[in-house]
Amino acid sequence: MMRMDIKEAIRQRHSVRQYSEDHIDGEVKETLEKIIEECNRESGLHIQLITNDPECFDTLLGHYGKFSGVNNYIAIVGSKRIPDLSESGGYYGEKIVLEAQMLGLNTCWVAGTYGKGKCKAVLEDGEKILCVIAIGYGRSSGTAHKSKELSKLCDVPEKEMPSWFRVGVEAALQAPTAVNQQRFLISLDGDEATIKAGFGPLTKLDLGIVRYNFEAASGHKCRAI
Ligand SMILES: Cc1cc2nc3c(=O)[nH]c(=O)nc-3n(C[C@H](O)[C@H](O)[C@H](O)COP(=O)(O)O)c2cc1C
Repeated sequence: MMRMDIKEAIRQRHSVRQYSEDHIDGEVKETLEKIIEECNRESGLHIQLITNDPECFDTLLGHYGKFSGVNNYIAIVGSKRIPDLSESGGYYGEKIVLEAQMLGLNTCWVAGTYGKGKCKAVLEDGEKILCVIAIGYGRSSGTAHKSKELSKLCDVPEKEMPSWFRVGVEAALQAPTAVNQQRFLISLDGDEATIKAGFGPLTKLDLGIVRYNFEAASGHKCRAI
């Protein structure tokens, strides 16, 4: 089977909350662990894959969030001393989410509706859990979210967009954000793309996620301001 490219992974990724019994194992698990290890090395984060643990989502909150069959998750963990911890967690978490999509897995970012006391992540001194990502083989592949209009999320007129920038913005619009809030603004500063988070909970985590989508699709850096 041909491996899908990153733009296709961005298009195909939707939050999935119901999972089958199929285990993450063999080559898929090894690849996923390798990607997580690389992300940790590069960022200083302590992201962890936890498999075969149904407890974390088997809580009132988990059921409220309509999750079922979640046996695996990725805990986004890092030291409170890391500058821009939330943004970094979002950026590297999304990198892992898209790699997982290319491995045939489905995911859902989860900051609220999981059993926080039941998460099996190991915390070193000064570390905290930002959120988790449910992961596994979905019962469906999810559906595309309703997006705000492009002009609400980017202040560059469409006629003035370089083609790479347009590709980046389109990928940004497809990025997951908490409660689909899409509170960010993408701009051009000379020939450099910039992104600014709006106010509110989880907007910094969202910023990292959206920035990764933009960069991965466009091949151009996007500076957080
Ligand atoms: C930081 C973050 C936190 C989220 N937390 C939850 C959550 O607690 N429960 C949930 O069901 N979905 C959660 N989501 C998933 C969003 O609702 C979802 O990404 C959004 O509605 C867009 O849909 P899509 O991911 O299918 O594109 C979260 C997403 C992000 C990015």
